[in-house]
Amino acid sequence: MKSYPEPYHRAIQVASQKLSRLVATYPDLTPSFTEKGKWRLQQAGWTNWCEGFLGGALWMIALLTEEQQFREYAEHYSRLIEPRKTDRTVHDLGFLFLPTWGRWYQLDPNPSAGEVLIEAGKTLAERYQAKGGYLCSFQGAHSLYVDIMMNVPLVFEAARLSSDERLFQIAHHHCLTTRRYLVRGDFSTAHEGIFDPESGRFIRYQTQQGWRDDSTWARGHCWALYGFTLAYRYSGEGAFLSTAQGLADYYLLHTPLHGIPPNDWDEPQPAYPTESSAAAIAASGLLSLADCVVDAVRTKVYRQTAQQILTSLCSDQFLAIEEGWEGILRHGIYHLPAAVGVDESTIWGDYFFLEALWKVLCGVPNTF
Ligand code: GLY
Repeated sequence: MKSYPEPYHRAIQVASQKLSRLVATYPDLTPSFTEKGKWRLQQAGWTNWCEGFLGGALWMIALLTEEQQFREYAEHYSRLIEPRKTDRTVHDLGFLFLPTWGRWYQLDPNPSAGEVLIEAGKTLAERYQAKGGYLCSFQGAHSLYVDIMMNVPLVFEAARLSSDERLFQIAHHHCLTTRRYLVRGDFSTAHEGIFDPESGRFIRYQTQQGWRDDSTWARGHCWALYGFTLAYRYSGEGAFLSTAQGLADYYLLHTPLHGIPPNDWDEPQPAYPTESSAAAIAASGLLSLADCVVDAVRTKVYRQTAQQILTSLCSDQFLAIEEGWEGILRHGIYHLPAAVGVDESTIWGDYFFLEALWKVLCGVPNTF
């Protein structure tokens, strides 16, 4: 394996062992989170949104280790999810296709990968509610999730690859609507907006995985931080860059110095004080945002914060060094109110951890 400075080298070694074991023990399965450290083998439950993250993690570990076997696994696990490009039941096609086919296309811009991305992006765009100006969540036409900010880049990518102005406008409007209704004046975020689908009128906030309807669920906030950064990259829209900065500053202001937020910043004295997957998403998003901002001080602060998060995640507290624990990062949370996947590993946390390590160690600018 290629050599890296500590504490990163150990983390990549641990990750490569865990991923090798995962594909050998559960061939062709794409688990979402662990239960007492063992990958849960049934589908995600609630909604099927995680099937691209194992393939994405394999692309990342292939790039970090430069081991051919991982590249073969990465292509195989990407192919496994290709039929999902026409899945009209979820809003999560960006989560599925950007870490897999998007990465494949980025490394090797071949037309067949481009066609997969275009088709998946067009499918996602069908969720567009013209009256409200947003892509609706899997819950129905009335529901806008902040999470969709991390999926809408697939629509931008499909617009770019196919030069389709209509797709671009859908993606752009979705971001404007999310900014208007789900990002509050202090740059805290709401998880879900409920609309009247007939008129497109906003009715109220709601949460699914956060503390309260008016609180800030950390992972959703991190999807927005990273998503607005990518929306700025695709559109050049200055409002999206200033939104991403505001969201990043909120993260910095409200998170302890080790860099790992709780599940929800507003929950008083949380029983589980850290949500490692949100931190991994934030680290990767901050590294991309640092490449976009023009203010040198902000660039430095965002990079330092991302590195602090990674240092914490590489410590014995978060890196699952024990053999019997199957995930890479401990202390992640999937769905606290439903008591599902609490204080466990998550496949998306593992993926974004590796993505952030790749950005830091391989210095890849301007990438998702
Ligand atoms: N469904 C996306 C999330 O749990 O973050």
